[in-house]
Amino acid sequence: MKIEKVGVLGCGLMGAGIAQVSAQSGFETVVREIDQQFIDKGFGIIEKNLKRSMEKGKISGGDKDAIFARLKGTLDLEDLRNCDLIIEAVVEDLNLKNEMFSELDRICPEKTILASNTSSLTIMAMAASTNRTDRFCGLHFFNPVPVMQLVEVVRTIATSGETTEMCVEFCKAIGKKPILTKDNSGFIVNRLLIPYLLDAIRVYEQGLASVEDIDTGMKLGLNYPMGPMVLLDFVGLDTTYNIANIMFEEYREQRFAPPPLLKKMILAGYFGRKSGMGFYDYSGDKPVPNDLGL
Ligand code: CAA
Repeated sequence: MKIEKVGVLGCGLMGAGIAQVSAQSGFETVVREIDQQFIDKGFGIIEKNLKRSMEKGKISGGDKDAIFARLKGTLDLEDLRNCDLIIEAVVEDLNLKNEMFSELDRICPEKTILASNTSSLTIMAMAASTNRTDRFCGLHFFNPVPVMQLVEVVRTIATSGETTEMCVEFCKAIGKKPILTKDNSGFIVNRLLIPYLLDAIRVYEQGLASVEDIDTGMKLGLNYPMGPMVLLDFVGLDTTYNIANIMFEEYREQRFAPPPLLKKMILAGYFGRKSGMGFYDYSGDKPVPNDLGL
């Protein structure tokens, strides 16, 4: 069997990115959202990305039209019925994800592989809501999806070798570098990244250094593209908080526990770049450190 038609659940930043790279790589792609405004917003992100590629001469206007011709937005889960692979990229709410997965399990033919882009839940917790645990795996992409090369392909104890192989081939076909990982909360990257980001907040909370100096230290000291505080704002403080809570719940280890400052920032509505305020204030021409009064 070959993957030809791809379904994506959710057209937020991750879902839109996954849909873009899928359609851009020649796959017929259907994206499902719960409201037309979310499809419009996600397709707007794709439009902007493709325009940027056109301006850089990487694709032509004809390519852009062909990509959009392969992309379809829908509000109806039934429209994903004939997909060979469906990748879920909705909010980290296990009940919500499982409702969709059990519905898809009911309406899709046997061949359809179901996958989740979860960053912290275990794949088995979702696979168990279906009768196709052998055709269920994790496909974890990174933000911004069109730029980041990596995809973690997650095998549960029940994922078949054929499913894994087909997903690895799919990742290669969309120009990504797949790596294999077992089914543990946070897989490889977030298992290492989340304690690092939380520690950076603790360093700041303890008054060891300023936000800017923590960023400069890790950026210039290790040649990272972004320092941890900029990266926290980029990933989203609410997203990081959710991931940390899920990982703490799973491992019960201190290093995954969200620091009090992170919780306070969420309560204040400081979600990072998306809300205009996080460890930096994005309201001006260029970001400046947010005065948190510490
Ligand atoms: N969407 C699409 N393309 C984007 C983009 C976006 N949001 N931001 C930048 N780009 C593209 C640019 O168009 C440019 O493309 P070309 O190479 O084709 O010209 C390229 O990326 C580089 O962009 P810039 O020169 O403008 O900026 P930069 O060199 O500073 O790179 C960056 C921006 C790629 C975001 C870089 O800063 C970076 O790699 N940061 C780290 C990102 C990271 O760590 N992501 C992982 C987050 S963790 C995660 O996602 C997992 C999870 O579960 C939480």
